[in-house]
Amino acid sequence: MTEAPKVDAKDALVIFTPSGKRGRVSLGTPVLTAARQLGVDLDSVCGGRGICSKCQITPGYGEFAKHAVTVAPDALSPINTVEERYDRVRGLKPGRRLGCQACIMGDVVLDVPPESQLHRQVIRKSAAERVMKMDPATRLYYVEVAEPDIHDPTGDFQRLSTALKNQWGIGSITADLDVLRALQKTLRKGQFKVTAALHKDHTGTTRLLDLWPGFRDAPLYGLAIDLGSTTIAGHLVDLTDGRVLASSGLMNPQIRFGEDLMSRVSYVMMNPGGDLEMTAAVRDALNTLAEVLTIEGGITAHDIVEAVIVCNPVMHHLLLGIDPVELGQAPFALATSDSIHLACSEVGMTALNPSARGYILPLIAGHVGADAAAVALSEAPEARDDLSLVVDVGTNAEIFLGNSTRVLACSSPTGPAFEGAQISSGQRAAPGAIERLEIDPITKEPRFRVIGCDLWSDDPGFAAATAQTGITGICGSGIIEAVAEMRMAGLLDGSGLIGGPDQTGTPRSEPTGRTFAYLIHDESKSGGPRITVTQGDVRAIQLAKSALYAGTRLLMDEMGVDTVDRVVLAGAFGAHISPKHAMVLGMIPDVALEKVTSAGNAAGTGARMALCSVSARAAIEAQVRRITKVETAIAPRFQEHFVAANAIPHATDPFPELARIVTLPDVSFNTNGASGGDSGGRRRRRG
Ligand code: FES
Repeated sequence: MTEAPKVDAKDALVIFTPSGKRGRVSLGTPVLTAARQLGVDLDSVCGGRGICSKCQITPGYGEFAKHAVTVAPDALSPINTVEERYDRVRGLKPGRRLGCQACIMGDVVLDVPPESQLHRQVIRKSAAERVMKMDPATRLYYVEVAEPDIHDPTGDFQRLSTALKNQWGIGSITADLDVLRALQKTLRKGQFKVTAALHKDHTGTTRLLDLWPGFRDAPLYGLAIDLGSTTIAGHLVDLTDGRVLASSGLMNPQIRFGEDLMSRVSYVMMNPGGDLEMTAAVRDALNTLAEVLTIEGGITAHDIVEAVIVCNPVMHHLLLGIDPVELGQAPFALATSDSIHLACSEVGMTALNPSARGYILPLIAGHVGADAAAVALSEAPEARDDLSLVVDVGTNAEIFLGNSTRVLACSSPTGPAFEGAQISSGQRAAPGAIERLEIDPITKEPRFRVIGCDLWSDDPGFAAATAQTGITGICGSGIIEAVAEMRMAGLLDGSGLIGGPDQTGTPRSEPTGRTFAYLIHDESKSGGPRITVTQGDVRAIQLAKSALYAGTRLLMDEMGVDTVDRVVLAGAFGAHISPKHAMVLGMIPDVALEKVTSAGNAAGTGARMALCSVSARAAIEAQVRRITKVETAIAPRFQEHFVAANAIPHATDPFPELARIVTLPDVSFNTNGASGGDSGGRRRRRG
């Protein structure tokens, strides 16, 4: 740090904004030192040597009535040679000073810009705007190490530790063998001036991850990975400011062993060594994802020093190489539910820095995984007084109900219908898939939009705009809208039966054996698809939505309530569900529509929060212990709720808010006692 100019032993008032922290310091105190004395969050990587520029501040001059202080033009020491050189070589923004060089010579007001705050809060635009707290586990420290001395024989690592202790107040550190191997060369290359990447999380161990000669003026990166049973999504994140440099996703290669989680567990049961195959497949995919993100982000793999992974319990066990068989049967015992801290290399993630550290969020229960914990971290129902229902809609629905007094969680086996799977014309969300649909209640004619085109199907130019992609099928949000619109247009009755052409007055109601289907789009004459919603499709959606609603009702029973204050739809798919249609179907309890919001990919957001902040990790670990888990598989009332929820929207629960905006036609198509298919039966749990 710069040497203090000689001044009289007086002191000055210093006020830091935006924190408002204030206090008196001796004249001649460097601003960085004053900040540390007053507990102000001012960053530094070079330890006050005028190299890193992380300590920038903006002094304010003149009258500050609010603070009752007048700042004279000479309240800070004049710009010194270090600042002059820095400005010449790298450029300082007008008005900025280096906090480690500028000394306090009189009462002063100093603004700490966001980029100079060590624990800055960064607002990241996403589906839900969110404040991301920057408090990463891995940080850079520039340090000057004593050279070896034959009269005082100590190891290079020990002298590095001592320097870190003396210059940064960092206690004992540890390092992997890989890092020790490179240590001597790096120290000498940097003439014993080096930048160290130290990893220190909330568990306390400080680990040297890497070392660079001289001052390293480049950020480090981390990966936030949402490891799902169907897809694996990852973000490459700048650990300095939380910025997402690249996002990418790929299909989980384990799909070849089974579409859903239970069939993957069965595969392990039937094929000795099957778990090893699946472990290898998922680890391989994580490396591929890391490589893609590295290329897209334009960085080198070596600069990725951390990965945070969120996943469901079966994926968790398979990634870690733990046999998942116990998760396939009651009482669904986890090998461990605690958070996991490991070297990424231990789970085969080699396309990163060799010392990169991994963190997996804690699991909540046998069916409620680290991905759900990430949703709980991101949505934090415990931080609000009103009662929030948070639903992460995927192959299994994870459901939270809670407020500042109590949070409950469960998982409900919705199956893959909401994702467009097991639907006759269903497909995953991709260009060409119908994602929005409306049916005219008079003519019963549909109009729709497909992914990749902003026009509706009856807009001029639609055919030309979709010529490239075609109209290929219906995705998850499309099938929900289609079934809800059929109910609103009187094509479908409250029990879920599709009416015939005589009952509905449209030839689009087509006979298919003993039941009917509704025709949305027909390109069969030109060899294209014929897209319909069949009775079987409606039943699949009814089963899925009944499971979701029954899980929610179970939590409401436990909480002793009949209504909730707000509903948050999470999951990539949740972002696309229309709240009105979800309520017409009875997927969610009745609530004012404006109280239904989408949180986007909340699990991915939670993973990023944990990547950027060790205090977020500590917070979710504590919160998971407080969450009450409700097991749907053994709850006697689940089946009862499930059957009652089969009707659209519901057999017994009132939907007054829905009735305010939609009048559902009072139709019944059950003329001969045919049920149109299986409507009851308990679903088996799916992944
Ligand atoms: S602390 Fe690094 S330049 Fe001031």
